[in-house]
Amino acid sequence: MMLRVIELKKYFRARGPLFRSGREPVRAVDGVSFSIEKGRTFGLVGESGSGKSTVAKLIVNILRPDSGRIIVNGDCDIVFQDPFSSLNPRMRIRDIVGESLRIRGISRRETEKRVKETLALVRLERTGCIDKYPHQFSGGERQRIAIARAIIRHPGMIVLDEPVSSLDVSIQAGILNLLKDLQQGLGLTYVFISHDLRVVEFMADTVGVMKDGKLVEIASSREIYTAPRAEYTRHLLNSIPRIRPE
Ligand SMILES: Nc1ncnc2c1ncn2[C@@H]1O[C@H](COP(=O)(O)OP(=O)(O)OP(=O)(O)O)[C@@H](O)[C@H]1O
Ligand SMILES: [Mg+2]
Repeated sequence: MMLRVIELKKYFRARGPLFRSGREPVRAVDGVSFSIEKGRTFGLVGESGSGKSTVAKLIVNILRPDSGRIIVNGDCDIVFQDPFSSLNPRMRIRDIVGESLRIRGISRRETEKRVKETLALVRLERTGCIDKYPHQFSGGERQRIAIARAIIRHPGMIVLDEPVSSLDVSIQAGILNLLKDLQQGLGLTYVFISHDLRVVEFMADTVGVMKDGKLVEIASSREIYTAPRAEYTRHLLNSIPRIRPE
């Protein structure tokens, strides 16, 4: 098992003098449990505010849970939705992608070699690109840079929080196929978050449907789309355009 999440809870309490008394906390994550086998993809879907990103941040330790446990078998990294804001505009690509190696004391030369190898893996091989800055790349290229940064230390698992949602539909498929190839080649395990059910259906083996901080259904990707059990899942499915003919 690569990841096991047990009864995870995270409530956000309203702060400040105006809200001191009587306000209910936001139950962003309210008793979530699931697990993922190595090399598989767990998809997390649900409407805005259902708690998906909070689950992501708990898994990669950006947030601490109020209660519950997260057992990760190895290293884990994260790719965010928006490569504009997740890449430091004042850093060169070599430093963005290589930072985690340099922090661990790996030499400048070895880091440069690994950065180049990793950029080739994400198919970003334009000459001289390691000395450029994020604004000199397109949105899709920037997301490749964010993916390179996440995989350079060979983590076992990557949490992808809406990795293609900010991208033009015409380039989404390229990124999704790249993620699949990397998963195959490197044996990566993914937590793949999206509000786009078609994207999750393409990527995930197992899908969890979130609503108000809870998982209302967990099933194989096929079951979710062909025989959804929870009423809420049916509601979500009905609210998206179909990709398959009926
Ligand atoms: N740092 C925070 N402080 C207070 N409330 C928060 C914080 N982060 C998230 N929340 C609240 O927790 C709930 C879940 O938010 P979260 O970002 O996890 O949802 P989401 O499913 O990722 O939504 P989206 O699809 O819009 O990205 C929301 O009600 C949100 O307003
Ligand atoms: Mg989110």
